Amino acid sequence: MSGRATVVARANIALAKYWGKSDEALNLPAVPSVSMTLAPMRTETTVTLEPSLDHDVFELDGARASDKESVRVSTMLAEIRAEAHDKTHARVASRNFFPTASGLASSASGFAALAAAARAAYGLPRDDRRASILARRASASAARSIFGGFVELPAGTPGDDSLAAYPLFGPDHWDLRLVVAVITEGRKDVSSRDGMGISRRTSPYYEAWVEKSPLIAARIREGLSKQDLAMLGEATEQSFTAMHALAFASSPFTLYFQPGSLAALGTVRRLRDVEGVGVYATMDAGPHVKALCRAKDVEHVAATLGQTQGVLRTIVADPGPGIELA
Ligand code: ADP
Ligand code: DP6
Repeated sequence: MSGRATVVARANIALAKYWGKSDEALNLPAVPSVSMTLAPMRTETTVTLEPSLDHDVFELDGARASDKESVRVSTMLAEIRAEAHDKTHARVASRNFFPTASGLASSASGFAALAAAARAAYGLPRDDRRASILARRASASAARSIFGGFVELPAGTPGDDSLAAYPLFGPDHWDLRLVVAVITEGRKDVSSRDGMGISRRTSPYYEAWVEKSPLIAARIREGLSKQDLAMLGEATEQSFTAMHALAFASSPFTLYFQPGSLAALGTVRRLRDVEGVGVYATMDAGPHVKALCRAKDVEHVAATLGQTQGVLRTIVADPGPGIELA
């Protein structure tokens, strides 16, 4: 029965980072990315068709969303309305069960949940590839959150709007854990979208990034396939350090690090180099440090990061499923 649908989606963490677009109008990434979907970092979105509305209404985390946030939601709903041949407007209520807009990928789980919930509410059949395309147009990392486990979004060819993510390995492929060292609960200063635009336009390292990223993504795929944590972890660190170096060298410089980020990175290095724990770091467009390790080491890694100065708390994530319709 269409008219109302609820979907749960999870955030994902890019091991191979997407940073930079090959086509800004179509929101196509310039480089391939590979991610892990994170079980506990959930977004729940309900879309209800309301014939009495003359515009869409978007409530995020219990409050009316800003105009900018509402426009991104309405843009996706308009595409779905066209496909469903239904002009009815919708009320969208969404909740992120982790901090919004702080570098923990709420946009990824948010737009994945919205794409799937809105398609169902407008009576369209479940089609994860179509949902991934819709999510990608809203926010490219969201294309990956449609699927569970370990997921790839290839680089886009300019002008080709059919790009979608696809799963590489299911959530049970490998017992990896990701420990998020939360450095701030606040919103980040420079959005991913703005940050990657500045990098593309001004960073002297942008061309090298676009050229080398496919090799890094290939190592990450191989490390996952062989369950080789050193191979996966080293390539994961190369991806995030190159991304942040590129962003830092842009004009104006884009710096997502805070003192707590440096301290947490130091903890990861010390755990690895001094204690011999297999743990590797990554960071996104925010100050949080995310540490990748085996399940057997996760308690020690989380406890040590939790005691690091500047780390407010830790979140432990295991590989999670793709979208779930309630
Ligand atoms: P994050 O690191 O959390 O993804 P971004 O600044 O990249 O931060 O994205 C945050 C934006 O994503 C929000 O301002 C809003 O526009 C959108 N967003 C976040 N959560 C949701 C949601 N649950 N549903 C729809 N849009 C969302
Ligand atoms: C650092 O997907 O948020 O998290 O497509 O402009 O919405 P837009 O960008 P977004 O960028 C994510 C950047 C990243 C790396 C990644 O998730 O691959």
